[in-house]
Amino acid sequence: CRVQQWDSEEPVPRAELLAGVAGKRGLLCLLSDRIDREVLEAAGPGLKVISTMSVGFDHLALDEIKKRGIRVGYTPDVLTDATAELSVALLLAACRRLPEAVEQVKNGGWTTWKPLWMCGYGLSDSTVGIIGLGRIGQAVARRLKPFGVKKFLYTGSRPKPESAAEFEAEFVPLMKLAEESDFVVVTCALTPATQGMCNKDFFTRMKKTSVFVNTSRGAVVNQEDLYDALAHGQIAAAGLDVTTPEPLPTDHPLLSLKNCVILPHVGSATYATRSTMAVLAADNLLAGLRGEPMPHELLL
Ligand code: NDP
Ligand code: DGY
Repeated sequence: CRVQQWDSEEPVPRAELLAGVAGKRGLLCLLSDRIDREVLEAAGPGLKVISTMSVGFDHLALDEIKKRGIRVGYTPDVLTDATAELSVALLLAACRRLPEAVEQVKNGGWTTWKPLWMCGYGLSDSTVGIIGLGRIGQAVARRLKPFGVKKFLYTGSRPKPESAAEFEAEFVPLMKLAEESDFVVVTCALTPATQGMCNKDFFTRMKKTSVFVNTSRGAVVNQEDLYDALAHGQIAAAGLDVTTPEPLPTDHPLLSLKNCVILPHVGSATYATRSTMAVLAADNLLAGLRGEPMPHELLL
């Protein structure tokens, strides 16, 4: 292949993408590249394959892509373990107040051992609600179970008894999950149905002692409503790996809250995982260009 590469870790500027894609047969992109009708038109009718180095595909205008008969490759499975691990780390950081505690050590707030100082909430005997019991949702449940979780709840577009059996997880409507969970973990895909799904109504139903974690996409959450819930003690804490926008402006109100732990979208960020994702994305692209079955094709 002849390859034109944007040789930088920084996202390709839109103008460079539009100019660079013209006349190409294949495009390897990242989740930060919005591949919409404008890009497809700039590419022209020769574009046959799009390969994204991500499992999420909400940045791809699938209707437009499908209309043009373009094939799409993505990277499921290979990042499930890394993302589930990070989700658990974020949950523990939020519920046991780790960033706040570390800060106290550094700023002299640690004066002595005090009975109720820096207390948080633990997983033993808890109810965990998973929004989206897919690959990552199941991997999170598998990791949380040994912490002594008493009950798993999940929600999604339909019950999945085969996936739920391992955790004896109960399928419930979204609002029941909000009401009964001590920990809510969001691991669903961003779709029109899930966009803004965690909103004022949802947070109001949660317990004041509950912890909310999102490692899916920022847009699943209404951030103004989350801010209000955290600031007014409607819920205990939150951990977010994903936000709207990304990066979150450093003066964003959520960053002023002690009970909100925010990470810069690092769910899959282990060296091994990112390397495997890159190779898979390249293999998908090459297979698509050759007209062969892709290792992981998104069927449109
Ligand atoms: P899967 O497709 O395996 O799982 C997605 C889940 O979303 C499915 O179980 C699906 O449930 C669920 N879902 C769909 N619609 C709804 C709905 N209306 N309500 C609740 N759940 C719903 O994908 P993965 O587990 O591999 O990845 C999930 C997402 O995680 C990705 O799309 C991506 O956005 C994000 N991600 C984030 C990372 C990070 O770095 N933070 C890393 C990797 C992924 P059902 O089958 O019932 O429709
Ligand atoms: C994805 O793959 O969708 C993640 O957000 C990054 O790994």
